[in-house]
Amino acid sequence: MLALVDVVGGYGRTRILNGISFAVPAGKVVAILGGNGTGKSTALKAIAGLVAVDGGSITFDGRRIEAVPPHRRIGRGLCLVPQGKEVFAAMSVEENLLMGAFHRSGDRAGIRADLQGCWDRFPRLAQRRTAAAGSLSGGERQMLAIGRALMSRPRLLMLDEPSAALAPKVIGEIVEAVRGLAAAGMTILLVEQNVSVALELASYLYIVRDGRIAHERPVGPDVDLEDLRAFYLGAGPS
Ligand SMILES: Nc1ncnc2c1ncn2[C@@H]1O[C@H](COP(=O)(O)OP(=O)(O)O)[C@@H](O)[C@H]1O
Ligand SMILES: [Mg+2]
Repeated sequence: MLALVDVVGGYGRTRILNGISFAVPAGKVVAILGGNGTGKSTALKAIAGLVAVDGGSITFDGRRIEAVPPHRRIGRGLCLVPQGKEVFAAMSVEENLLMGAFHRSGDRAGIRADLQGCWDRFPRLAQRRTAAAGSLSGGERQMLAIGRALMSRPRLLMLDEPSAALAPKVIGEIVEAVRGLAAAGMTILLVEQNVSVALELASYLYIVRDGRIAHERPVGPDVDLEDLRAFYLGAGPS
């Protein structure tokens, strides 16, 4: 569904992506692991159209998208939940969710149905429907950020470190929510620093080092966590 081939890019003259290549097949969860500052978020931003691509190709549904503006990528079903659990703090939980559907504001019945879908998927959000998003816990904000993305009806959902800075119990809830989405057939590209979370969710993983893929493998019963950690720690300080 998504394929990056030798993508080069970064911020102004600062090159961060040094020929990164990876693929996300439809209906799968693919994880990208790697140390801090290796270019994971930059890769997701390149896919979303928020970072300049100076070389290589990004193909979504068989079509090149490097020149497609970010809002039209959302319209095609590419949705990024950025790192940091960003929400509109002064707006209510429900208003935040509705923001996710802004590009299809004519579709009232669909939006109402999707809103109900979010309440069903995240009962904790339903309980806090009218609360200001800024008053939510970290876990609830992550759920809200994911829920808002779902309101855009993504076909490929990109999650940037959804487990970061959360307590283990809350991480478990996020993992369950993502597992539920995957079971419903959602294609997911997951960036994580938490190896266990990646192994629990993904069927294939890539390890990034210096803006390119240093290692890749399917996730199976034979995956050696220590092996993986060694690769991962080799990726730089974290
Ligand atoms: N907006 C930006 N402008 C300039 N450099 C940036 C920007 N965002 C990130 N960087 C740099 O790009 C590198 C990779 O960052 P990032 O992709 O966020 O890493 P990761 O997500 O793997 O931790 C880092 O050295 C970081 O300092
Ligand atoms: Mg990052």
